[in-house]
Amino acid sequence: PQIVPFRAANQAGIVTPQQDRLTFAAFDVVTKDRAELVRLLKTWTTAAESMTKGQLVPGGETDLQAPPADTGEADGLKPGNLTVTIGFGPSLFDDRFGLASKKPAALKPLPKLAPENLDPAYTGGDLCIQACADDPQVTFHAVRNLARLGAGTVVLRWMQLGFGRTASTSSAQATPRNLMGFKDGTRNVRAEQTDVLDRCVWIGDETDQPWLRGGSYVVARRIRMYIETWDRDYLADQQNVFGRYKASGAPLGRTDEFDTPDLGSSDIPDNAHIRLASPEHNGGIHLLRRGYSFTDGIDATGNLLGGLFFIAYMKDPKQFVTVQTALAGDALNEYIQHIGSGVFVCPPGVTPGQYWGQGLF
Ligand code: HEM
Repeated sequence: PQIVPFRAANQAGIVTPQQDRLTFAAFDVVTKDRAELVRLLKTWTTAAESMTKGQLVPGGETDLQAPPADTGEADGLKPGNLTVTIGFGPSLFDDRFGLASKKPAALKPLPKLAPENLDPAYTGGDLCIQACADDPQVTFHAVRNLARLGAGTVVLRWMQLGFGRTASTSSAQATPRNLMGFKDGTRNVRAEQTDVLDRCVWIGDETDQPWLRGGSYVVARRIRMYIETWDRDYLADQQNVFGRYKASGAPLGRTDEFDTPDLGSSDIPDNAHIRLASPEHNGGIHLLRRGYSFTDGIDATGNLLGGLFFIAYMKDPKQFVTVQTALAGDALNEYIQHIGSGVFVCPPGVTPGQYWGQGLF
């Protein structure tokens, strides 16, 4: 109970029923030594596996003259369904490590997309770690310990905490609400839809890099909500922005949350978010969304600085680009701005004896 297996065909933390809390971190590799990068991935694999079992980072806790192998703040806490998922950014495959021949053609920086104004302090990275669990301290502990073990090899580039899930990834879960007060995740891809996962989420035989089969691409977007502006908008308009009723989550013109939206009807405005983001509008494309609400306090003018830390998994980042391009005319854009971004390829799961990303070397 509360333990998600670390070793499987696919990495945990993608179709795993979405946990309540997130710590996401992007790292830059500071060494030029390929062997050091391999050593880091081995060390991280061992530590991550141990932490997901609710155990301390291994290494002995008894030497009084050395820092303890584990920082200690998760000692005694339940594992909380911790998953730790790794991804590799486009910049990892530059000249430094001789990995150019292992770079998939699909992995490249995202093009400029509306409505964005990206802060370099929250953009990019050679590596990413997504730690999800039902306890915020467990997720923070995981990232902190990987960062500490990586000292000298990697540096933290940016980091984001998320305090509440904004999607469901399993049909057993109730739909949560985002900071705009709407149910979020209603029409998300679920773990049970294995046909959609094969078609839209897991990297398959179509890849030019066989070592990535069973992996997935992750796109992370730090999306600010202009919360004060939103809170002054009237209810009917809020509902038109999404194309759903606020209370029930049902599509406009229908009655139940899980009723299929009638996109042929004018009940759902032309610029409604669910119309423009839908597979029906985007040639059948699905994204597996797995985002979190965040807040980082207030900005310099005293407005709330928070929103949605959007995370989505997909077979090819083109899928995100297609949907986000369709969202250029989204009614929601009056109330949001994308202010950070990352794209990473997540290798397949680790089988016994392997380390994260072993296929790279
Ligand atoms: C649907 C909120 C950004 C893709 C929805 C729904 C809500 C919502 C409330 C309806 C419930 C559901 O089916 O999940 C938001 C908010 C955003 C945001 C508040 C920004 C702050 C994005 C972005 C993308 C995206 C950036 C992808 C580029 C989708 C998709 C659906 C959806 C694919 C399902 C559409 C359908 O099939 O009906 N979103 N969203 N959303 N959103 Fe977003």
